[in-house]
Amino acid sequence: MATNGKSVLIKIKRQDNPSSKPYWEEFALPYRPGMNVTSSLMDIAANPVTKDGKKTTPVTYDSNCLEEVCGSCAMLINGRARMACSALIDKLEQPIKLEPFSKFPVVRDLAVDRSVLFENLKKVKAWVPTDGTYDLGTGPRQTAEQQEVNYPLSRCISCCCCMEACPQFNDDTRFVGAATISQARLFNEHPTGKVLKRERLSALMGDGGIQECGYAQNCVEVCPKDIPLTTSIADVGGDVMKQALVDLFRK
Ligand code: SF4
Ligand code: SF4
Ligand code: FES
Repeated sequence: MATNGKSVLIKIKRQDNPSSKPYWEEFALPYRPGMNVTSSLMDIAANPVTKDGKKTTPVTYDSNCLEEVCGSCAMLINGRARMACSALIDKLEQPIKLEPFSKFPVVRDLAVDRSVLFENLKKVKAWVPTDGTYDLGTGPRQTAEQQEVNYPLSRCISCCCCMEACPQFNDDTRFVGAATISQARLFNEHPTGKVLKRERLSALMGDGGIQECGYAQNCVEVCPKDIPLTTSIADVGGDVMKQALVDLFRK
């Protein structure tokens, strides 16, 4: 194994359980070309010894696909919300600081509970409804223009980076966040999914809805899949406004 005698210094904010106090540990790992944050965490798991030679426990973290597709390995890397599997060590300033997301409950070490996103997706019915399990035949065709709008939206990996970085996503506002709004847009644009458009827009009205967005644009800056989140927010915001007016005149 080529290490070039170099070390990689990593400081990790650890927490043994959801209610215990966090603490920091520092590790010095032998450098290998092509290392990323996840492979460094694997190295620590194989030899859990701190920089001072103290034996410790392997660091807990989530990961699965190792190719920025599953969305599980999101964490704060040098203070920025991003994916550990695509964060190359060569491109990071050292000591590399790893912390769990600050706006989600810590499960252990770097693993957090991101179920709030999945609850929010349920609120806006972020799916295409199907009627039964029998053969429904082919669905309506989408034009090439529709596909060009929808494909980038469908690349969301539910990592929650956009929510972590958003100043409006907090316990006071209970804002649903950019990912949920963008997924509402995706399914509103879908030829079959749009039958639930009105319900989706209603779910985004009022407290915690789209009005909480302050257009700070942090979300679009950190999204690892380059999803046009601010365009989605503007688009859905316009639809929510129109729906609110229609609802008002119907009363
Ligand atoms: S535009 Fe700003 S306030 Fe709105 S979701 Fe993105 S980061 Fe949050
Ligand atoms: S919109 Fe981007 S940052 Fe937000 S959850 Fe989806 S992939 Fe992650
Ligand atoms: S391990 Fe799947 S996105 Fe990083």
